[in-house]
Amino acid sequence: MTPIAPQQLDEALNWRYATKAFDPSRTIPADVWAALERSLVLTPSSFGLQPWKFLVITDKALREQLRPASWNQSQVTDCSHHVVFLGRTEMREADVQRLIDASAATRGIPAASLDGYKNMMLKDVVHGPRGKIAAEWSARQCYIALGQFMLACAQLGVDACPMEGFEPARYDEILGLAGTGYRSVVACPVGYRAAGDKYATLKKVRFPLAEVVERR
Ligand SMILES: Cc1cc2nc3c(=O)[nH]c(=O)nc-3n(C[C@H](O)[C@H](O)[C@H](O)COP(=O)(O)O)c2cc1C
Repeated sequence: MTPIAPQQLDEALNWRYATKAFDPSRTIPADVWAALERSLVLTPSSFGLQPWKFLVITDKALREQLRPASWNQSQVTDCSHHVVFLGRTEMREADVQRLIDASAATRGIPAASLDGYKNMMLKDVVHGPRGKIAAEWSARQCYIALGQFMLACAQLGVDACPMEGFEPARYDEILGLAGTGYRSVVACPVGYRAAGDKYATLKKVRFPLAEVVERR
C-alpha cells in the first residue's frame, strides 16, 4: 500500500460536502461504483459480525416512491445510486455461526477451533447485554459503514449526502423489509454535484481543533 500524502487527505475531506443538489444526467462509471461497493463490504464491524446489508437503488420508479418518505429531498431521485444501509433487527445464533463458517472456510481452519470466539460472541451479542439492544448495536455498525463509504466516495471524486432525513418505517414498508430481519437505518445518495449547488462552496462550520481534540 502506498500511503497518500497528508494534504491529499485534507483535500478530499474539504472537497466533500453533504450534497444538496445532484446532476441527474450523470451516472457513476461501473468501475468506480464497483470499488465503492467493495468499500462497503470491507467495512470493519464489532467482532467482524457484519450485521448489515446495503441496498443499492438505481430504479427510478422506486426512488420516486421513496422521495416523499425522505422529507421530499431531491437527492433521492437525482443521484446516481441511492444506498440504504440496513441493519439486523436482532442477532441470532445463526448470525454468529455464519461468521464462524465463513472464517473457517476463508482461513482454512476447523470451525471447532473457533469455539471460544463463538461462545464469546454468543454471550455478548446474542444472549448478553448487546443482544438486548441488537437493532441499535447493528445500527452503530451501519454508521461505521457510512463513514467509510463517504470517505471512499470523496477519494474517488464522487459526491454523497449522508441522510437521516427520512422515515425509516415508511422506507421499510416501501422496500418490503418486514420479515427479512433487516430494517433501514440510514441512507446515502451518491453521484455528482449539480453545477449550481451553492452548498458546495460554503465554508465548513467546525468547532476549533483545540476544542474537540484533547491531548494528554
Ligand atoms: C448521519 C447524518 C445524517 C444527515 N442527514 C441529512 C439529511 O437528511 N439531509 C441533508 O441534506 N443533510 C444531511 N446531513 C448532512 C449534515 O447536515 C452535514 O454533514 C453537516 O451539516 C456538515 O456539513 P458537510 O457535510 O457539508 O461538511 C446528515 C449528516 C449526517 C452525518
